[in-house]
Amino acid sequence: MSRHILILGGTSGMGLALAQAHAHLGWRISVVGSSADKVAHLQAQQPEWGVYRADLGDEGQRQALFAKLDALAPFERVVYAAGVYANERRFDLSAEESTTMLAINVQAFQAAFAWAAQRVAGKEAALVCFSSIAALVDYPYTSLYAQCKRAMWHTAAAYRTALAPRQVAVLAVASGYVDTAKLRQLNGGNATHKPFIVSEQRAVNEIMAALNARRDVAIFPKRMRVACALLNMLPQWAVGKIMRHKLDAKVLANK
Ligand SMILES: NC(=O)c1ccc[n+]([C@@H]2O[C@H](COP(=O)([O-])OP(=O)(O)OC[C@H]3O[C@@H](n4cnc5c(N)ncnc54)[C@H](OP(=O)(O)O)[C@@H]3O)[C@@H](O)[C@H]2O)c1
Repeated sequence: MSRHILILGGTSGMGLALAQAHAHLGWRISVVGSSADKVAHLQAQQPEWGVYRADLGDEGQRQALFAKLDALAPFERVVYAAGVYANERRFDLSAEESTTMLAINVQAFQAAFAWAAQRVAGKEAALVCFSSIAALVDYPYTSLYAQCKRAMWHTAAAYRTALAPRQVAVLAVASGYVDTAKLRQLNGGNATHKPFIVSEQRAVNEIMAALNARRDVAIFPKRMRVACALLNMLPQWAVGKIMRHKLDAKVLANK
């Protein structure tokens, strides 16, 4: 029987690319997304995949989805790739935008990992989450997005320790900019001006290599990792000053 991967947030972007990489290796694929159009398109393109529609931020829909997926468990890998993000560090989110960001990037993630931890098993058993390089730099006025991804990073570490006796790996991915359709859409169709941006294929290669080596984290690209390490050697007030002057000047000026 082929190994089964479930990707929550697997109907586009990095989640979909990761699903395709597993399909090439003969894995059974199940993916989840909230957009009816994406689900219908994917069902037509990949009739052998399980493609499920649910808004993970809606508790009722999430519970119904998990009840349906229970019948397919156990999975060898479960990935939480769903996420909401803006183009730039944003400090002016509306109450509704903040609620959505918390719901998808923190609350649904927590619920998904709690559910998945009991349903993952096998030789290569692993849980994966998509945090962000933004989570790895701590400074005084960090955005809500970065705080959510930081919470995800630390939650993954807690699950890693808890699941180690069962030989379940927990991989936290912290990438810099990845040239997905979503990032391009947020940038008027072209995101190539983003610093150190990498292709979707490169991101998938990094994640597959980390999974195969059963590493705890995948932080890429290297230049972004080095930049973060250097920033983290400075006192927080200095990091805040650098971020404010070099990166956020335009955003803050528009406040
Ligand atoms: N691209 C980057 O530069 C970058 C960098 C660092 C980290 N990340 C993180 O990587 C992850 C994937 O990013 P991406 O660029 O590949 O984005 P994407 O193409 O928008 O993929 C997000 C996936 O999550 C699903 N999703 C979003 N909201 C959902 C909801 N409420 N319920 C169910 N599914 C939902 C989307 O499907 P629907 O639209 O159908 O809901 C889609 O399948 C995100 O968590 C992001 O924060 C991205």
